[in-house]
Amino acid sequence: MQGYGNMFLHGSGVYYRHFSDTICSPLNRISAAVTRRTPGNNSKSTTTTTALLLFIFSLFVIAFVYSFYVDSSVAVTIKSGSSSPESILTTKQPHEHKHPKPPPKKNRINYSLNCTTTNETQTCPSNSPLIDPQYQTPSSSSCPDYFRWIHEDLRPWKETGITREMVERARRTANFRLVIVNGKAYVEIYEKAFQTRDTFTLWGILQLLKLYPGKLPDLDLMFDCYDWPVILARNYREKGPNVTAPPPLFRYCGNEQTLDLVFPDWSFWGWAEINIKPWDSLLKELKEGNKKVKWMDREPYAYWKGNPAVAETRQDLLKCNVSEKQDWNARLYAQDWGAEIQKGYKESNLADQCIHRYKIYIEGSAWSVSEKYILACDSLTLIVSPKYYDIFTRSLLPVHHYWPIKETDKCRSIKFAVNWGNTHKKKVQEIGKAASNFIHENLTMEYVYDYMFHLLNEYAKLLKFQPTKPEKANEICSETMACRAEGLEREIHDGIYG
Ligand SMILES: *[C@@H]1O[C@H](CO)[C@@H](O)[C@H](O)[C@H]1NC(C)=O
Ligand SMILES: *[C@@H]1O[C@H](CO)[C@@H](O)[C@H](O)[C@H]1NC(C)=O
Ligand SMILES: *[C@@H]1O[C@H](CO)[C@@H](O)[C@H](O)[C@H]1NC(C)=O
Ligand SMILES: *[C@@H]1O[C@H](CO)[C@@H](O)[C@H](O)[C@H]1NC(C)=O
Ligand SMILES: *[C@@H]1O[C@H](CO)[C@@H](O)[C@H](O)[C@H]1NC(C)=O
Ligand SMILES: *[C@@H]1O[C@H](CO)[C@@H](O)[C@H](O)[C@H]1NC(C)=O
Repeated sequence: MQGYGNMFLHGSGVYYRHFSDTICSPLNRISAAVTRRTPGNNSKSTTTTTALLLFIFSLFVIAFVYSFYVDSSVAVTIKSGSSSPESILTTKQPHEHKHPKPPPKKNRINYSLNCTTTNETQTCPSNSPLIDPQYQTPSSSSCPDYFRWIHEDLRPWKETGITREMVERARRTANFRLVIVNGKAYVEIYEKAFQTRDTFTLWGILQLLKLYPGKLPDLDLMFDCYDWPVILARNYREKGPNVTAPPPLFRYCGNEQTLDLVFPDWSFWGWAEINIKPWDSLLKELKEGNKKVKWMDREPYAYWKGNPAVAETRQDLLKCNVSEKQDWNARLYAQDWGAEIQKGYKESNLADQCIHRYKIYIEGSAWSVSEKYILACDSLTLIVSPKYYDIFTRSLLPVHHYWPIKETDKCRSIKFAVNWGNTHKKKVQEIGKAASNFIHENLTMEYVYDYMFHLLNEYAKLLKFQPTKPEKANEICSETMACRAEGLEREIHDGIYG
């Protein structure tokens, strides 16, 4: 229980007596500052209120698009800017009718994209975006517990602050540099990330800028989209003339040995390559999915489905599968993405996978984005000794939210957990429900944005210099990312479609 074992201790609150609980306070004022722009003379233009990602993906004539129904927390109205207003949507969105309109929601922003319909370079609008004043940021009174890690992660720079030199030292492994100046985002890509990770991450940051208009401070950061954290704490531990402060580097996960800053992973906005929908809509589906089979009626086994090739420990886990000789109470399946794509992902629908009383979470090459999906199921999650954390997992407590499984003795540990659970049904359902409630209540998209906002805000407070647009950086905005989707399409083909 290396990772979470320590987290358990930290979670007691004693360790964090320095934690300042002012972190949620700016929220009160946020919804006030909104600007309205009256819609232009585009009344003829076809509009769509499906999420922009749907728009992006529906431009592609590739198989998985058909089942990719998106309903993220951001609604976008596409407006074409010039003479032939209908051309974009009517000519390039052939599958629109296949996606039912999402029901209107309380918490969403609603804004327009002003796409040029000619082939000139898409530019970002100079005026501020239309923001729906109805958008409700989460209540400021009770931030989820995991927000405290924002301060912990930034602690190494508390004394020194962050200089431009430190930021630039993080470039070594960074995929991109993000600079925000006066509410505008500039990005310099150093190295294309795997699949569409960087695209979805930047997309999330652009939505954040819209949700918190004028609230994000100027900042300059390096982002690494690879799996493994790289800033080794031991290299920066000693004090001395030659020991420098660590370079601040954002990524999707961390571990006990490293100082990388943890940021929400791309899957919160979707993982197109494997048909995983944006978290906002998936969360709702999971909620519905949970109602299909009551816990008592679920299969009394521990279920896992995933890609065993990415980690030795996963291959090792497969040895616990049921066989003619042995039953460790585990039902384990290797995910075959090639076959899944052929079948239109019918068998990998996450909301249909809440049919076992126990679900196993095991890390892949590092943390795995699947953890939130597994925990949301109302089943008891059996977590195999994790070594990595993402934004929320450090607040999970063993026995309260999940059941720990011994890395070195997985089969027996699983068998014991399942046997114990089947004889302590009430307790096990409570644990399953606690985890599920945690995910459904405290890991909503509103909180994810909120986490990003506070993290970036606290980070920016440490900067010792005025960020400026790097020479080679380009301004990005929803228009530059979404009006032309060729780039994204190419990335997807470069990904698993190879
Ligand atoms: C869209 O952009 C064009 C120029 O890029 C501008 O003339 C037009 O007013 C914009 N429309 C809206 C509704 O902002
Ligand atoms: C978004 O705004 C437009 C124009 O203000 C409006 O017509 C449309 O109904 C809104 N959509 C949603 C989902 O609120
Ligand atoms: C796009 O621009 C190029 C020149 O930059 C021009 O030759 C071409 O005709 C344009 N295509 C369309 C469809 O407007
Ligand atoms: C969500 O977070 C709040 C604030 O930390 C906490 O009081 C509440 O118990 C949490 N809810 C769940 C279901 O974990
Ligand atoms: C510190 O760096 C200087 C110059 O780079 C070098 O001369 C010196 O030996 C280093 N000291 C230690 C303790 O490494
Ligand atoms: C595990 O066992 C089940 C039942 O025999 C089987 O269907 C499944 O393919 C096995 N999983 C793996 C990864 O071999």
